[in-house]
Amino acid sequence: MTQNAKFLWGVATSSYQIEGAVGEDGRTPSIWDTFCATPGAVADGDTGAVACDHYHRMPEDVALMAGLGVDVYRFSLAWPRVQPDGKGAGNPAGIAFYDRLVDELLAKGILPWITLYHWDLPQALEDAGGWPARDTAYRFAEYAEIAYNALGDRVRQWTTMNEPWCSAMLGYVFGQHAPGRKDARAGMAAVHHLLLGHGLASRTIRDAAASRGRSEGLEVGITLNLSHKIPASDSPADLAAARWDDGMSNRLYLDPLLRGEYPADIAGKLAELGCPLPVEEGDLGLINQPVDVLGVNYYTSRVVQAAPVGGNGWPASRSVPRDVERTAMDWEVTPEALTDLLLRLERDYPGPAWYITENGAAYPDVADESGYVRDTARENYLRTHIDAALEARGKGVNLRGYFAWSLLDNFEWAYGYDRRFGIVRVDYDTQKRTPKRSARYFAERIAAEKAGQFPQS
Ligand code: FCB
Repeated sequence: MTQNAKFLWGVATSSYQIEGAVGEDGRTPSIWDTFCATPGAVADGDTGAVACDHYHRMPEDVALMAGLGVDVYRFSLAWPRVQPDGKGAGNPAGIAFYDRLVDELLAKGILPWITLYHWDLPQALEDAGGWPARDTAYRFAEYAEIAYNALGDRVRQWTTMNEPWCSAMLGYVFGQHAPGRKDARAGMAAVHHLLLGHGLASRTIRDAAASRGRSEGLEVGITLNLSHKIPASDSPADLAAARWDDGMSNRLYLDPLLRGEYPADIAGKLAELGCPLPVEEGDLGLINQPVDVLGVNYYTSRVVQAAPVGGNGWPASRSVPRDVERTAMDWEVTPEALTDLLLRLERDYPGPAWYITENGAAYPDVADESGYVRDTARENYLRTHIDAALEARGKGVNLRGYFAWSLLDNFEWAYGYDRRFGIVRVDYDTQKRTPKRSARYFAERIAAEKAGQFPQS
């Protein structure tokens, strides 16, 4: 059954990383604009003010996608463009951009796949408390309704959040991402309110679709960054360290979303550490909405070894380095762990359709005079990870698609423009786009897969 379901090939991007035009058509600042303006927060003082200038070059970028032969494009909406300051009515001028994008994609036969939140929270909502504040979850559902009302006549694929782990942990616990706070208690409140926001927004979208007779083909879901955690040894300490790491990064999200409960070991320990998940009555039911699609963003895996507990009492661990290739992010290249991860997800959390919503790699690209990059390492990364994903599918995982991260080199958060993940090179001085060798490979692979190596319906 699952083997005959259609498999979608796509590319992914996100609003703040590519759009630029941060002050245009009524968009207000997001937490990333503020963070970028904070000295020392982002490498080289880079900002998303111009990025890939996609806001003005969108038709050219859609043409690039069409050239690759992709079925689907995963992009995110900038909340401060759609609903400036995160309150009140939608902003017609900002929404018009996404209207044009959706129409352009459909005209080229590419499915639009919307992510509502890829980290660019309106600064006004952060000023009101941000994700640690419960009200932000309700504001998010309101924004989801505005977005659905504007685009739901043409868009069927709706992802609420991208990687809530990153929003909560990097944004509020470690302070490496916007809004740059370092407060574990706030971070754990953010985890719960992001998940609550997901639940409220998915219910809103489903209801809005049903009231217009558009439920058929609607796919609502969420994308998580999930990873395989491999204990360094069978010692009880290493097993416990790997279990804690798996709990904090995988189960803390998967369990409430798909089983309607927080993992007891993690929730209990967080409460003990003074960072409880602020769950109110009925919340878990709201979070546990039907999930049509669970997006998996996969980059690497980790061998986990116990480390002495720090002064704050939090369980600690360290990564044991393996003798494998590393990307420019210093991430170990471990495609086989993607197969293991997918098999584990299907076994422990059966139900949703799984998609790899991001997978790719940064390498120190060298362009020739024409702008061409012969990125054999990235090509190899894509090949081995696609193989690993399809291997899991062959073993019965209900995997329905694969998105390369990313279409374009772009603003890589705290690394600024220093790390390039694109399969298409962007010359930031001229904004010239040049498909790399990996883009050619991806296009050829898609064509080959569609030609029958792999059953399509
Ligand atoms: C993911 C993010 C994406 C990009 C890649 C490299 O965590 O979702 O925006 O930064 O990592």
